Amino acid sequence: MKHFMYAGLAALLLTGCSLSAQDQPAKTDQQKPQSASQKKNTADSGDKKSASELQLAARYFNKTKTVEGKQVIQNPSNILALVNKTYILGDYVPKDLVRPNVQFSFGDQDIEKSYLRKPAAQALEEMFAAAKQDGIDLFMASGYRSYSRQKNVFDAESQKVGEEQAEQAVAIPGQSEHQTGLAADITSHAENFLLTQKMGEDKEGIWLAKNAHQYGFILRYPKNKERITKYEYEPWHFRYVGKKAAAVIYKHGWTLEEYFQHVKKI
Ligand code: DAL
Ligand code: ZN
Repeated sequence: MKHFMYAGLAALLLTGCSLSAQDQPAKTDQQKPQSASQKKNTADSGDKKSASELQLAARYFNKTKTVEGKQVIQNPSNILALVNKTYILGDYVPKDLVRPNVQFSFGDQDIEKSYLRKPAAQALEEMFAAAKQDGIDLFMASGYRSYSRQKNVFDAESQKVGEEQAEQAVAIPGQSEHQTGLAADITSHAENFLLTQKMGEDKEGIWLAKNAHQYGFILRYPKNKERITKYEYEPWHFRYVGKKAAAVIYKHGWTLEEYFQHVKKI
C-alpha cells in the first residue's frame, strides 16, 4: 500500500500538479454547478442512503422466547444475533464451524477455540492478510467456545477475582458471543500473545479498530460504552456482523446494542 502512495507522490512530483485548461477533464453533468432543485435532489439521495442503511430485514432481529425469566434467542444462527446479558443463547452449537487459515497464539493445535463459523473465518483470513500487507502481524487467540468451555473460562476467572468482578470481563455460560462462532479474540507479539487493554494503544489494536469494519468485524466492547455493553473495554474482541452492518456501526461509533436501537424492521 505504502509503495503505491510513494509511487503516486513520485509521479506527481515528476509531472507537476497544475493541469492546463486543455488537460482538464471535460465537465460532466455532475460536475457543473448545481441548480437549487438539483441540490435538493442530492440532499434527498443522501437522506435516502442513510435512511436505507438503517432499514433491516426482520430476519436479522432476535426472535426470543422467555424461558425461566430469561430471553432465549430462537434464531441464533442469525449473523446479526445480539447476544448479551439480556439476550442469551441456550445450548446452541453452530453447524458451519471451520478452522480459519490464520496464525494462532497457541500454535497450530486443532482445538475448539481455533474454529469460527465459515463466513467469519473467511473474513478473518481476509483481514489478517490485509493487516500483514500493512506490516501488522495478527494472531487469533480464541474463536468458538461451547457452552461448557465458556463455563470453564468463567469458573476459572471467578476463582481468581470473584464472581461479581468476573462478570465484567467474562460472559457467564450461554451469554457469550464466542458461542455463536462469530467472535474472535485477536492478539500479537507486542501483547505477548495475551489479551490486554494495552492493545488499544499498540499499532495492532489501532489498525484493527480502524480497519476491521472493512472486513465485516466490529470492536464489540469499546471504551466508554461499558454502561451499554455491560462489559469492560476489550480492544481484542471482534465480532463478525457482515460488511454492511459493520460499516454503519463504525460510521456512527455505535455498539451492536445501539445499532438495534436505531435500525427499523422491514
Ligand atoms: N469476554 C467476553 C465478554 C466473553 O466472555 O464473551
Ligand atoms: Zn472475546
